[in-house]
Amino acid sequence: MPVTTVLITGASGEIGHGLIDKLSAQSDVRIVALDLHAMDEAMAAKCYRVVVGDILDTALIESLSAAHDFDVIHHLAALLSTKSERQPTLAHKVNVEGTMNLLELAIGQSRLQGRDITFLYPSSIAVYGMPDLEAKAKAGKVQETEWLTPHTMYGTNKLYCELLGVYYSEHYRQLDAEVPKGRVDFRGIRFPGLVSAVTVPTGGTSDYGPEILHMAAQGKPYACFVREDARIPFMAMPDGVDALLALAAAPRASLKRRVYNIAAFAPSAGEILEITRRSFPKADVTFTPDVKRQGIIDTWPADVDDSAARREWGWQPAFGMERAFSEYLIPAITRRYLK
Ligand SMILES: NC(=O)c1ccc[n+]([C@@H]2O[C@H](COP(=O)([O-])OP(=O)(O)OC[C@H]3O[C@@H](n4cnc5c(N)ncnc54)[C@H](O)[C@@H]3O)[C@@H](O)[C@H]2O)c1
Repeated sequence: MPVTTVLITGASGEIGHGLIDKLSAQSDVRIVALDLHAMDEAMAAKCYRVVVGDILDTALIESLSAAHDFDVIHHLAALLSTKSERQPTLAHKVNVEGTMNLLELAIGQSRLQGRDITFLYPSSIAVYGMPDLEAKAKAGKVQETEWLTPHTMYGTNKLYCELLGVYYSEHYRQLDAEVPKGRVDFRGIRFPGLVSAVTVPTGGTSDYGPEILHMAAQGKPYACFVREDARIPFMAMPDGVDALLALAAAPRASLKRRVYNIAAFAPSAGEILEITRRSFPKADVTFTPDVKRQGIIDTWPADVDDSAARREWGWQPAFGMERAFSEYLIPAITRRYLK
């Protein structure tokens, strides 16, 4: 059986964790993992090679390209939304220049190997930006082409990187006389806030969702930084990971666009607390909005239209809100904190 070599950047992070778990279960996959931070031994054991390093280190990227023939790249490394807003220059470096480095690796490999390299990119609902709550309420489920006016550095970085991905896939060096055989096959997903039972997020603006649950499970008080009625889409981590794998496996011919919305459930912060309290009735959560972080949530859509993903590559979440909590989050989180 031919082996598929997969490069994962940002492999030590939340999505990387879930992705390595799933991918390593496939016998024909060889994972090369790259992250600034070392991963724990159990995760590292699931990889063919683990590299601790920076995506901004072009010499390192070139050495990876020289050592491996990649079939698929999952480029997850990034500075998340809250951190990016606090350090916009660093965000531009990591999120934009870092992505350029990976796209350069991908195009170089596609030309060398004379075939397409699949490039998976986790974008975000942060690419959307609505001017006020009235517009947000009216917009309902936002489509991929609407409201592409982000208010944050992170959203701006993500939107531009989506465009870079399209450029590298469809127009790269279009004035060249020769048309090369291989291309980058860029595929992006605009993720909602992801909620994992095994890792706790840091640096994201949707972190209040998982934080309500993780703090309640530990019996710790939590001051939620958004209003009770704040609403954005969320998703259970296993669905997020499955979405990346499903989009990576979809035949190119069935894909009519390069970037897709995906959706699962879209609760208000109050509804997250309500469902959390069914399992942890003593959850001590107060809503003390941080006006500025709340302001960012108010520009993100209450929900997204994912009909293109459903139609073109069969996207369907396994976890609605009830099932995400009763069958995935609550059992795993309870086990985690009872240890
Ligand atoms: N988790 C979510 O809710 C969510 C939602 C939308 C999009 N995303 C996107 O998914 C991707 C992964 O997110 P995550 O939740 O796993 O984030 P995370 O913060 O848990 O992981 C990101 C990883 O990238 C690594 N990293 C950062 N800078 C690096 C650099 N210069 N070189 C090498 N590694 C570097 C970090 O060490 C970290 O392990 C990101 O691109 C993020 O923007 C996540």
